[in-house]
Amino acid sequence: FKKLKDGLLSSVPSTKEIKEAATFDVNKDESTVSITVHFTIFGYARSKMTDAELRNMVSKTLTCRIDKRENCDEKMDQFLKRCFYHSGQYGSQQNFAELDKKLKEHEGGFTLKIFYANTRIACIVACGIIVGEMCLGITCSIAVHEVREFLIYRLFYLSIPPNIFIDAVKCASSSASSGIGWTRVIVEKPFGRDSDSSAALTKALKQYLDEDQIFRIDHYLGKELVENLSVLRFSNLIFEPLWSRQYIRNVQLIFSEDFGTEGRGGYFDNYGIIRDIMQNHLLQILALFAMETPVSLDAEDIRNEKVKVLRSMRPLQLDDVVVGQYKSHTKGGVTYPAYTDDNTVPKGSLTPTFAAAALFIDNARWDGVPFLMKAGKALHNKSAEIRVQFRHVPGNLYNRNFGTDLDRATNELVIRVQPDEAIYLKINNKVPGLGMRLDRSNLHLHYAARYSKEIPDAYERLLLDAIEGERRLFIRSDELDAAWALFTPVLKELEEKKIIPEYYPYGSRGPVGAHYLAARYKGAENNFPYLRGLRKS
Ligand code: BG6
Repeated sequence: FKKLKDGLLSSVPSTKEIKEAATFDVNKDESTVSITVHFTIFGYARSKMTDAELRNMVSKTLTCRIDKRENCDEKMDQFLKRCFYHSGQYGSQQNFAELDKKLKEHEGGFTLKIFYANTRIACIVACGIIVGEMCLGITCSIAVHEVREFLIYRLFYLSIPPNIFIDAVKCASSSASSGIGWTRVIVEKPFGRDSDSSAALTKALKQYLDEDQIFRIDHYLGKELVENLSVLRFSNLIFEPLWSRQYIRNVQLIFSEDFGTEGRGGYFDNYGIIRDIMQNHLLQILALFAMETPVSLDAEDIRNEKVKVLRSMRPLQLDDVVVGQYKSHTKGGVTYPAYTDDNTVPKGSLTPTFAAAALFIDNARWDGVPFLMKAGKALHNKSAEIRVQFRHVPGNLYNRNFGTDLDRATNELVIRVQPDEAIYLKINNKVPGLGMRLDRSNLHLHYAARYSKEIPDAYERLLLDAIEGERRLFIRSDELDAAWALFTPVLKELEEKKIIPEYYPYGSRGPVGAHYLAARYKGAENNFPYLRGLRKS
């Protein structure tokens, strides 16, 4: 209890751990220790809603994991009974105090029950209170001690517009924080619009919270294949030696969606694709991809390495960016809207829904290697992937003797983050037969074929991490500062100069300008798979 209270344990210890750690003299075989954790979920917003309505809403999307479908209805029912709702204003101390009151009615804290038999000592100290009795020297035949301790942990998840973050945090921390135990707050992006607004947000949050209470979420860090990046790299000898400018020609970080802003235009128009995807999701992947080996898997060690990468990067130049915006397009008798057809988007908006950018890390490992980001909405497909293109095989024997396409003598590693998670390495091989013809094949790890287990949703992992106090996948404030420093100048320039985006048809591969940008870096357009399709189309 003491360790939990002081935050020294990341999660509630198991019964086994408690038994093992017990300092009192119990006959372990005859004793049992059990812990009950009470868990409740409260929805809080301005709209009026009853608990039943919230449960009904949640039940529409609630499901059990495929591999744990046993007693699914019962489990879902139990879960729904733990969901409650309270309506209030985000800036009202009184409404938060009401929430606090309601929370207390439902919070059971932890109950630790210790049943032990034939023992002589029954004394443990928990949270500074003596529990049980001192009965040294007295043999009790059966002693049952029930320790009820209310350690309350509260995790607030701010899924609200950024302009009310501070009000909500202020009220939550002064009127509804946990009296005993921790209070943490998960903050969703956008963390500001640029360096100044982000710094102001951090400063304001820190008036009410310590840095270790703030969990800045970037859900891409919770995606299975992004988590796997470090494993792939640091636990396979074959990759790490190749992970540098010596062998890697370029790295592409691609995000595309096959739908537009559809109703989210109000939010999106104020941010645009660079802030919505590049400055956070793609940059985070880049930092994980390019960082040096951390001292350990500890959150601070990993985040230190990521910050170093971000701080070694050159701020993005306008010349290295192409911006686009989707326009209406009719295909197969269906007309798809333009971005500005969205009622929530101001007419004549220049906000980019597509951007391609070339970024550089000025350190010894990555000097000169272009990191090419591409992110767009209303494109031809939905996907997120990392493509690592290796250099050509020097003095390639096969190219010389058989006049094969130069492209064949390179390798490419593709990490498909979504959909249909996969990692594959393109290699060159001989076509079987008497002749000598080269082919390109994939060494393929296809997650659906390899693992029958369902892959957890990114948010699932991250919420669990926040509860357990695992900060590895959350953004530290200095990381955020470094990320904004890279994009703020170019964002300002784009806005001040009112740069007109290149219009591309809804459902296409994006603006042609992206093709030229890619071709400029590393010359050959063959290097960029997404551009090959573009050329054809
Ligand atoms: C969000 C962006 O962070 O990520 C959205 O604000 C985007 O614009 C979404 O659609 C994509 O997430 P996912 O997990 O569906 O790829």
